[in-house]
Amino acid sequence: MADGESQIRRAPKSRWGGIDVKYRRLGKTELKVSVIGIGTWQFSGEWGKTYTQPEVDAILGQARELGINLIDTAECYGDHLSESFIGRAIEKDRDKWVVATKFGHKFHDRFSRTDEVHPDQVLRQLEDSLRALRTDYIDLYQFHSLNDAAFDTDGLWTMLDKQVQAGKIRHLGISIGKNDNVYQTDAATRVGAKVIQVVYNRLDRTPEEQVFPSCIRQDLGVLARVPLASGYLSGKYRPGATFAADDVRHRHDPAERDRKLQLVEQIRREEVPAGVEMAQWALAWCLQHPAVTCVIPGCKSPEQVVANAKAVELVGDEHPQTWKE
Ligand SMILES: NC(=O)c1ccc[n+]([C@@H]2O[C@H](COP(=O)([O-])OP(=O)(O)OC[C@H]3O[C@@H](n4cnc5c(N)ncnc54)[C@H](OP(=O)(O)O)[C@@H]3O)[C@@H](O)[C@H]2O)c1
Repeated sequence: MADGESQIRRAPKSRWGGIDVKYRRLGKTELKVSVIGIGTWQFSGEWGKTYTQPEVDAILGQARELGINLIDTAECYGDHLSESFIGRAIEKDRDKWVVATKFGHKFHDRFSRTDEVHPDQVLRQLEDSLRALRTDYIDLYQFHSLNDAAFDTDGLWTMLDKQVQAGKIRHLGISIGKNDNVYQTDAATRVGAKVIQVVYNRLDRTPEEQVFPSCIRQDLGVLARVPLASGYLSGKYRPGATFAADDVRHRHDPAERDRKLQLVEQIRREEVPAGVEMAQWALAWCLQHPAVTCVIPGCKSPEQVVANAKAVELVGDEHPQTWKE
């Protein structure tokens, strides 16, 4: 993506005066998904704030109102806690949402999980996720960033295929842990997975090298996670920023964080057009890559949902995955 940064321009103002969320085809799942999704690790309480049901209802209600239809969660954002909040919030209009969750861990305590990837354990997690989400199907069930030995666990993908046949899972995906994991990406079609989730943002372009070409070759959908570089690319933090002990960013290496925050200041000066919010620019930047279907920024409030949705104003319609009715 040579000179990709310079391609972000203001799209013509929405005909409706509001935000016209755009949609793309999620690779060969053929699902129609909003280019801005909602990441929900935050609902676990590991981002410096614990949540109540009304707060989650307000966040997802705002998303729905804007036409956002994709939610990403996981078994271990709390012990199915994020899923439980989501299940109660979307029960009334479940069919309007594309719900993506994950498997492979057992949550124990804040910042503490163990791997559980034996087929029997995953089957149990699937049942627990269905119960928490108050649904009888999961739209996208993703392998949760485990290593290649776990990926190759005997019988894992055969068991999952049976759950697809049974209608409990609509599509399988792989959330790769290291964003250069071309082994798991290349294996997607073989194991029946149609979507890759990967860290991709202006500070980390590694997937452009091998992962994205493999996704395009296999017609896989791509969820770009951590698109705001854990919030650092929002532009609101300065080098020297610190975080409370109940915020996962407290665990990031301070020197590495400062290096990123200095780079963010440079990017703001050199690449972000005047008058454009940095968070919106950062999301639109991800969305211009031809392999990327959508971004899933973690949202802590309805205001952040609105701010992130506004990134669509910077996104054109010329993307190869643009949804065609
Ligand atoms: N292995 C995996 O599969 C995996 C790993 C990580 C994440 N994920 C998924 O990807 C999602 C996104 O990643 P992430 O949450 O780690 O990182 P992120 O989306 O890059 O950053 C999220 C943080 O940015 C800040 N933020 C969000 N919108 C903003 C806005 N408009 N303006 C200013 N600040 C804003 C919020 O924190 P503050 O307001 O407190 O700064 C929020 O907690 C997760 O929620 C999760 O669903 C999956």
